[in-house]
Amino acid sequence: MTNQTADPSIAPQGDAAAAGPPARLLHVACIMDGNGRWAGQRGLPRVDGHTEGEENLARIVRLAVRRPVGWLTVFGFSTENWVRPRAEVRHILGLHEKLFGRVKELNELNVRIQWIGRPFDSPAARTPKYVQRAIRKAISDTASNTGMVLTVAFDYGGRAELMSAVRAARADGVPVTPETIDGHLYLPELPPVDVMVRTSGEQRVSNFLLWQSAGSKIHFTNTSWPDFGADDLDAAIALVR
Ligand code: FPP
Repeated sequence: MTNQTADPSIAPQGDAAAAGPPARLLHVACIMDGNGRWAGQRGLPRVDGHTEGEENLARIVRLAVRRPVGWLTVFGFSTENWVRPRAEVRHILGLHEKLFGRVKELNELNVRIQWIGRPFDSPAARTPKYVQRAIRKAISDTASNTGMVLTVAFDYGGRAELMSAVRAARADGVPVTPETIDGHLYLPELPPVDVMVRTSGEQRVSNFLLWQSAGSKIHFTNTSWPDFGADDLDAAIALVR
């Protein structure tokens, strides 16, 4: 079902290789905004928009593996999102459990899942145990997949990540340089973002992957996340291909 190669930083070989050096697979990052408005426009409760947003993420993963995307990183829940109404937070946590439970589907697609966010044992972290378990299990159950890497940002904030990287570099006794910050990020393997997508008309980066997106293009679209589809994904990819 997948067309990805063992090394996700290298595009498939064969005819493409004969045409020149292999192109690097892209890193696409998505701020999945507009679930609440999508639901409101249909007279539905906000949480239904999040449910549809999670379903759409599964669709976008299926589309992305058939495109030159090696890395797809999505903003599932920010460090600021904890202040939302309790019932909404609980619903979004449940959706993360559902997403991280899609192991069979991810394995069929050869997709490796990753998580980026505040370490579970850090003083301010609030991730409940059942979400931690789902995250750990999905990471382990998809670890041998060699295709696209899907990274879910959960309890994530870019400024917190940068502060933690600087502190960790200092604690290691190394000078604070771009290279040592790279090496002390939550997920050092994450390559620079090629294109950042934000749906639903807002034009802000909202503390997402601040370091990794320093040189990225940005694709803003008015489409709400639950309606984000193949044409939108292709428009984002066209900015960098
Ligand atoms: C923005 O919608 C989206 C979020 C707060 C993040 C939650 C995202 C999902 C549930 C979809 C993907 C699912 C997972 C599990 C990663 P909003 O509530 O800010 O919408 P609004 O701006 O229209 O109110």
